[in-house]
Amino acid sequence: MTLLENDPDAGLEPLEFTVTRNLAAAPAARRDEILANPGFGTHFTDHMVDICWSVRGGWHRPRVQPYGPITLDPAAAVLHYGQEIFEGIKAYRHADGSVHTFRPDQNGRRLQRSARRLALPELPVEWFIQSLRELIAVDGDWVPSGADQSLYLRPFMFAKEAFLGVRPANKVAYYLIASPAGAYFTGGVKPVSIWLSEDYARAGKGGTGAAKTGGNYASSLLPQAEAYENECDQVVFLDQDRNVEELGGMNVVFVYKDGTIVTPQSDSILEGITRDSILQLARDRGHKVEGRAVSLDEWRQGVASGDIVEVFACGTAAVVTPIGVLKGRDFFDEQPVGELALSLREELTDIQYGRREDKHGWLVRLDA
Ligand SMILES: Cc1ncc(COP(=O)(O)O)c(C=O)c1O
Repeated sequence: MTLLENDPDAGLEPLEFTVTRNLAAAPAARRDEILANPGFGTHFTDHMVDICWSVRGGWHRPRVQPYGPITLDPAAAVLHYGQEIFEGIKAYRHADGSVHTFRPDQNGRRLQRSARRLALPELPVEWFIQSLRELIAVDGDWVPSGADQSLYLRPFMFAKEAFLGVRPANKVAYYLIASPAGAYFTGGVKPVSIWLSEDYARAGKGGTGAAKTGGNYASSLLPQAEAYENECDQVVFLDQDRNVEELGGMNVVFVYKDGTIVTPQSDSILEGITRDSILQLARDRGHKVEGRAVSLDEWRQGVASGDIVEVFACGTAAVVTPIGVLKGRDFFDEQPVGELALSLREELTDIQYGRREDKHGWLVRLDA
């Protein structure tokens, strides 16, 4: 099986990147200091990838250049109408020093789906994966080797044409930056508490919920602040029929007492690659898996009756996180704690870090 089987872009010629080395790259001692305690999203590697797109020229001028500020015209469409999409994917260092990423074809395809919804051009998946390799070729030393550490890769694309009319931009930029990431949980995985957002929705029917676009995250910030005010870690959103959608940045999964695993499915939810992988691992273990609507009532009644035995959230950043509490304006439901979330988490991270056989061919080596 080839990686990009059935991909219309398979067989494209690779892009020819111009590489400009960063003469002010962090000295090795400074880099090691950062990698010893990287946190999340605050430190960046020495380089970034940049590819231009225009209606006339298509994708052109692929570059690897020193990481640094981007110059934008104040009329750039992204600053006014939010025509922007992004991805999140990690690079993992294996015990033998090699660097791998996980299912990049899936992120590449999701970036294309997001692009379609936001009227942006689709970057071929092969070139998306090539951009990851190009960055690792110059910044591979930034992939940390500590337990549960990774290099978080952030591809993004935005409308840079200077034009205030409301229409898809004729000039677009694709960038890739990278940020070393520490273990999400220090001292073991802890269950999270979830605030039910009753006043604010994340997405609507026919909206942009399934796309990874900045506006979805901008609209989640106020409800997320409400979650903090109510002493909760994360917020969960409902749709217009009071079905469960997802958290601000993670999908939700329910485990029933007969072993069936159920996850909300609709065209307003981001299709998580972690969720897809976890559900495949569960199927491999013989679990029945269903993607369907799950109402808030089904969740609350299922927990109260003992039909639901575990609830967890999943996404690239935190991998799998048990949900310990669901809190609303007038209720506080403790959630049942089980073993499945953590055992699936361990299986998935073992594959990602090369500690267990990769039966599905999910890993792609980036440094060779
Ligand atoms: C809104 C939202 N849902 C779900 C996910 C999980 O997706 P994935 O597993 O591909 O990271 C993410 C983030 O990454 C997200 O931002």
